[in-house]
Amino acid sequence: MQIQLESQPFLSIEADALITYVFDRDDKFDGVLADINVAMSGRLSALAASGELTGKSLELVLVHFPQGLAAQRLLLVGAGKPAKFATADLRKIAGAALRYLKSRGVKTVVFLAREGERGPEAAQAVVEGLKAGDFESDKYRTEKKKNREIQSVGLAGFEAGIGDGLQTALERGCVIGESQNFARDLINEPSNKLTPRILAQRAEAMAREVGLGVEILDERKIAELKMGALIGVAQGSVEPPRMIVLRYEPQTPRPEAPVLGLVGKGVTFDTGGISIKPANNMEKMKYDMGGAGTMLGAMRALALLKPPVSVIAVMPSVENMPGGRAQKPGDVQVAMSGKTIEVINTDAEGRMILADAVTYAKKLGATHLIDAATLTGAIEVALSNVHVGAFGTPREYLDKFLESAKAAGEKMWPMPMDEEYKEMIKSNIADIRNTGSGKGGGASTGAWFIKEFAEDTPWIHLDIASTCWADEGRPWLAKGPTGIAIRSIIDFAMKLQ
Ligand code: BES
Ligand code: ZN
Ligand code: ZN
Repeated sequence: MQIQLESQPFLSIEADALITYVFDRDDKFDGVLADINVAMSGRLSALAASGELTGKSLELVLVHFPQGLAAQRLLLVGAGKPAKFATADLRKIAGAALRYLKSRGVKTVVFLAREGERGPEAAQAVVEGLKAGDFESDKYRTEKKKNREIQSVGLAGFEAGIGDGLQTALERGCVIGESQNFARDLINEPSNKLTPRILAQRAEAMAREVGLGVEILDERKIAELKMGALIGVAQGSVEPPRMIVLRYEPQTPRPEAPVLGLVGKGVTFDTGGISIKPANNMEKMKYDMGGAGTMLGAMRALALLKPPVSVIAVMPSVENMPGGRAQKPGDVQVAMSGKTIEVINTDAEGRMILADAVTYAKKLGATHLIDAATLTGAIEVALSNVHVGAFGTPREYLDKFLESAKAAGEKMWPMPMDEEYKEMIKSNIADIRNTGSGKGGGASTGAWFIKEFAEDTPWIHLDIASTCWADEGRPWLAKGPTGIAIRSIIDFAMKLQ
């Protein structure tokens, strides 16, 4: 799918479809819509009068062969109430329009911006929405839905701002959208096609393509570094673990600048281990590497967008299996940091591999941490599939991240890190235990476990267990891997200094 700026007057654009949006208000037709309405001899007013065109959020009204327009179709997308409208809506409108037209065999489209939201930021959001909307998880279908490809998208009606130009915004949107899709493709992979070794290879190939530093620690190196928590989880599988490390360095690093450490849970399949999971829905545990996928997507984008700070990504990858050598409930593991962990439940494996990854990221020089993990079922109980659970200390660091989430249009909710939750992971025989007390608060006790290794380093933990995969499609996004959190992390890294 090619995306380019379009400078033709919109009435004479010859595309299969012209897309624009309509607000839910009495006076719907102003600016470009007024012009279109006039060209169409007031037929849009008639549609509004009949109640077919209301402007309600994501309503789709398709007009064929619109009179007075060179385009073959006019697609009007509902933008909702103007007072509630934000850039994030533009992203959804673009994605929903693309998916709707794609399913109808349309090949060339032009997206026409309206008055108000049409600077570079708006253009970037539209491009992100188009790219994300274009993704389908049909890689393993031998009969692809034929002819269903949008070949070209033109952006019309956008205006260059005082800062970055439109072309830059367009390119940035492409990088971010494509990186999100890169991650979604990985997250979609079944575990027989994506073992820890293969994930490492895929990460390495991507790193070489975009110019990131890369180091893959194999099982020997992992043992040498005494990553006992990671080894404990990995030992139940015949597939050896990997610690994947990617590095981005700015051209002229400042000596005092922060070093961002991104840590992502890369469990390529989570059976639960000896504390085995029920069969129902277990197939979904292929996406338990979603945190690693997220960080790989973010690193791909950062390599191309070039933030002013260094970024190190550390992604521990294992398969959590109940093999003959598997760790057992009650076992004690010694983490790389020296802390001892009593394994109460082998299904709480994510926090164990993250423990050693966080320790290693700090050892490599990370001064600020963000981890992403499909960590707990408890986060679904708390926030459903609506918000990412966002934990972090100190609170100001978390708040700064939440601002980026807002800017990126990704819903995240701050979760508590009070000391009471820390009490719940005290062990009778070791420094800490890997589950809480069984009295609820599972997402917070999971977060505290990771904080025990982050210690005083500013740290954010994103529990994406209920948001990383969508069981249902949405108008602007296919069902399956969502690529959530990537845009927020990119935004945050680009602003860090
Ligand atoms: N990978 C799971 C969490 C998960 C659940 C991800 C649902 C995606 C969808 C994680 O490793 C796990 O099993 N967590 C346990 C922790 C418990 C044993 C303390 C859980 O949430 O039940
Ligand atoms: Zn588990
Ligand atoms: Zn897991």
